Amino acid sequence: MSFLDECFPKVGEEKFLKSYWPERAVVNHGPMSRFLSLENIPELEDIEEFLKSCNRKGVNAQVDLPDKRDEHHRIENLNANDALKLFNLGMNLRIARVHDVIPSVREILRKLEHDLGLSEATGATSLVYISPKGKAAGMHWDANANFVVQILGKKKWRFAPNKSIKYPLRRYAVSMNGHDVSRWPVELPKKMPQESTNVILKPGSAMYLPRGWWHDTEGVEPSLSLNFTFTQIPFSEIMASVIRQRLNRHEQWRQLAFGMTGSHLNQRQKLEKTMNDLIQTFLGDIGTLKASDLINEFERSHGSVAGQDFKFRKEKGVTIDLNRTKAMVRFSSGNELAIDMSAELLTTISWISKQNGEFMFKDVCDATPHVSEPGVYRLLKKLEDAKILVEVK
Ligand SMILES: [Fe+2]
Repeated sequence: MSFLDECFPKVGEEKFLKSYWPERAVVNHGPMSRFLSLENIPELEDIEEFLKSCNRKGVNAQVDLPDKRDEHHRIENLNANDALKLFNLGMNLRIARVHDVIPSVREILRKLEHDLGLSEATGATSLVYISPKGKAAGMHWDANANFVVQILGKKKWRFAPNKSIKYPLRRYAVSMNGHDVSRWPVELPKKMPQESTNVILKPGSAMYLPRGWWHDTEGVEPSLSLNFTFTQIPFSEIMASVIRQRLNRHEQWRQLAFGMTGSHLNQRQKLEKTMNDLIQTFLGDIGTLKASDLINEFERSHGSVAGQDFKFRKEKGVTIDLNRTKAMVRFSSGNELAIDMSAELLTTISWISKQNGEFMFKDVCDATPHVSEPGVYRLLKKLEDAKILVEVK
């Protein structure tokens, strides 16, 4: 059972990915015991215990000062023992990189990133929020997508879709001193929209909140929640990053661009002429860009699975046949499975289908160099989840 199945049992992973992710919020309540992946973690049984273990591992906390005027009024890096004292005085705490404190959280984070189909370049992290009774966070939106599991105590949330700005790339809070109209060139509300959803998260509740959605929170009682957040890499980032790399391969594009300031008119004219010539060659090249090349190049330059020593073999009795869009898998039990995949990945699975012994992750990458290493890794993990491959330890 995946972490998404554990979080949203009434929806299930498949429907969550089809109907909610990444656009719509969802909340499921239920017993904490359904989170098998969070079983036997003593650090999460008690707020004090959690902070003590943070202290032992040298992980610090961020503390919201009592006026709660957002990020301008915080203590950024306080040791967890002192943070506990401030929590007891009524302040909110935020502990980043919880996967450094609790190893099993790292595994959940890695799998969740993979199941959500996110690039290795995504900033994926885990956080714990510890809130006393009373107001916790004023109205704001975040630029990250957030998965919340309420572990201890109750916390009230109000949330609503953002009708003013879709897919924001930066966080915004109403308490920030005025809003920057050059960044957000529309009127923004100062109160939670009337159609906002009110929900009280209690131990065992799970929530997904898309990036950009308005929300505020209030502690009903002292509480602790575990959060997984993911930065959201837009199409523009893939395009800009790959184009920058491609341009920088050419000495003409690496020339110094000068002449923007200063009083020499001919320098400015020269700058514009050179830029114009470069734009013309670029416009010629841009027509040849293919989506699959851009995505592979982006992953190749941002992914970081290279060097990992994974070794796999096919499960006994598994055969794989291919047609143009599918891999047909037959298991020794007689069961069959059809997996849809892209033409690129079909060549990778074709190579895998011919292997009878053990093979290394790197062998697959070498045999199908047109697929990025993170892409190969995701395919191998998918085949492992489907019991087609086993990882040889
Ligand atoms: Fe938030």
